[in-house]
Amino acid sequence: MLNWDSSDNEDLDLRAAQPAPAALDALNNAGDQEAAKARQVTAGDTPAIIRAKAALNSLDIAEGMAELEGASARVAVDEKRMINCRADLNQLVPFKYDWAWQKYLDGCANHWMPQEINMTADISLWKNPEGLTDDERRIVMRNLGFFSTADSLVANNLVLAVYRLITNPECRQYILRQAFEEAIHTHAYQYCIESLGMDEGEIFNMYHEIPSVAKKAAWGLKYTRSISDPTFETGTVENDKELLKNLIAYYCVLEGIFFYCGFTQILSMGRRNKMNGVAEQFQYILRDESMHLNFGIDVINQIKLENPHLWDADLKDEAAQMILQGTQLEIEYARDTMPRGVLGMNAAMMEDYLKFIANRRLSQIGLKEEFPGTTNPFPWMSEIMDLKKEKNFFETRVIEYQTGGALSWD
Ligand SMILES: [Fe+2]
Ligand SMILES: [Fe+2]
Repeated sequence: MLNWDSSDNEDLDLRAAQPAPAALDALNNAGDQEAAKARQVTAGDTPAIIRAKAALNSLDIAEGMAELEGASARVAVDEKRMINCRADLNQLVPFKYDWAWQKYLDGCANHWMPQEINMTADISLWKNPEGLTDDERRIVMRNLGFFSTADSLVANNLVLAVYRLITNPECRQYILRQAFEEAIHTHAYQYCIESLGMDEGEIFNMYHEIPSVAKKAAWGLKYTRSISDPTFETGTVENDKELLKNLIAYYCVLEGIFFYCGFTQILSMGRRNKMNGVAEQFQYILRDESMHLNFGIDVINQIKLENPHLWDADLKDEAAQMILQGTQLEIEYARDTMPRGVLGMNAAMMEDYLKFIANRRLSQIGLKEEFPGTTNPFPWMSEIMDLKKEKNFFETRVIEYQTGGALSWD
């Protein structure tokens, strides 16, 4: 929180302090001259400083500008586009997509850190041979195995592939926020694994070793391959469709389906008062993820709106196939992680839930539901997703941290 002394407030009224145009010109000239003077070599300059000043003398401003993305003119809102935009991407405002900026603000307001959650009860329960059943232990292991690498796949796809190709600064601002949240999620899984004293190598390599985990990871990676190639450019129908497929794969399937069996299992454990710390970590992750998903759906639909020629019968069919394949892989994961009933649920109930989720994902991007009439066997999941930070966060946090540094002006 910044503290401005009340006596300074009048000076902060910028409209009142605005100089007349002539006075502004004079100030600009004086400023230019002073800046140039600062670069003149003085008696105290070392050879290194002299070299640094000389290097800046030969810096061509126009050349630097040409290297920046887009044009150098002030940006008009109508020029802004989700993909293939020609306007300067370094100018955040004027906003065109207020929903993206709002999600950025909401994401920041939901900030949390894994160390804030108390893990002591989980540690003693995990170490107690009678604490959990074999089925329950397996669920914790499998899910930490899947998620410890899945969020890295999502983060890498965002940073190394998607960010460059989304040509809108307010969306990029949210993507940067999302990328940090994915880092926090990976941190949270690492924190659980370390707290419980698990074999880190076994958990982090599970996406290579356990088929039901490996298949989900491999399915996602397939859609990153072409667009993460540094020579990949959008601007052709084929490549624009490739980007859209990547967004559907990551937002609708990875974050929108592949996370749901594991989230439900771990949260169900927390509802039964077991592994409360791990469950609470997952609860905060799920809240972030539902925002990632909603952002992704908005991006996909906006690209469709601006480029209706991309959303043809072929792509619609392929998108539906992707969601159905993802649902199938998640059903297989549910069977593998729950070969028999556990925690008041079983694979058949999870299958219904996943079909219910698949219907949602299909209709969110304008496709028809493939599992009509399916109902949600776990309505409590939707309530958890809407959780407000204030609801129980401060009861359980174990450390304090500052979200805003207190600056003092002397
Ligand atoms: Fe995540
Ligand atoms: Fe995410």
